[in-house]
Amino acid sequence: MDGNGRWAAQRSLPRTSGHTAAEATVIDVIEAARAAGVEWLSLYAFSTENWSRPSGEVDFLMHLVRRVVRKHAPLLHARGIRCRFLGVSDARIPAPLAQDFADLMTLTGANRGMTLTVAFDHGGRSDIVEAARSLIRAGVPAEALDEQVFAAHLPFPDTPDVDLVIRTSGEQRISNFMLWQVAYAEWMFPPVLWPDFRATHFAECVHTYQQRDRRFGGVAPHANGDLRP
Ligand code: IPE
Ligand code: MG
Repeated sequence: MDGNGRWAAQRSLPRTSGHTAAEATVIDVIEAARAAGVEWLSLYAFSTENWSRPSGEVDFLMHLVRRVVRKHAPLLHARGIRCRFLGVSDARIPAPLAQDFADLMTLTGANRGMTLTVAFDHGGRSDIVEAARSLIRAGVPAEALDEQVFAAHLPFPDTPDVDLVIRTSGEQRISNFMLWQVAYAEWMFPPVLWPDFRATHFAECVHTYQQRDRRFGGVAPHANGDLRP
């Protein structure tokens, strides 16, 4: 979800106004994803690198996310959405916010609709290091380690690989997002700033995704010169 600061700057507003405006897009995209039949939606809200922002902006984001989580918890639950928070969850997260995350996960944990993963205090590298630690603690011998075993030690191992990553604002970077899970993701970089991104933009991305030919390193069955038996 990128471009909040630029959205505000375009309007000569403080960056925080862009974050406030982002709330409407978040709700719009959640509804659009449900309407499109998406079963797993992940929103990258705050990275392990975002702590380096000015403390005023970080504090603002912590309060904003808390307000948004509390305000929309009943709606998310009523929609049958299962909510999860993917992140380091270190002591830098204010305790009341950590409690709200835990409460929302408990409230919606048994829901069987779309799973909404909010990546907060998230870093793909950090997840991989944590998985390695977990493997060592479990005493997994080197010979027993393969991709499946490794993936089972990542947080929320039931999360499927990412099919599509949409990064708004035109920036073309991964920025440490679910590094293991995006190995074969399709990527889209719509130029629209996140606060301007709407259900229609989301639907366009889904439509484009459906036209993509995903071969996972193989050869499409209909490809010319297919040499497979
Ligand atoms: C994304 O918008 C929101 C967060 C990372 C929290 P930015 O704040 O990165 O907006 P730009 O990139 O400065 O426009
Ligand atoms: Mg940015």
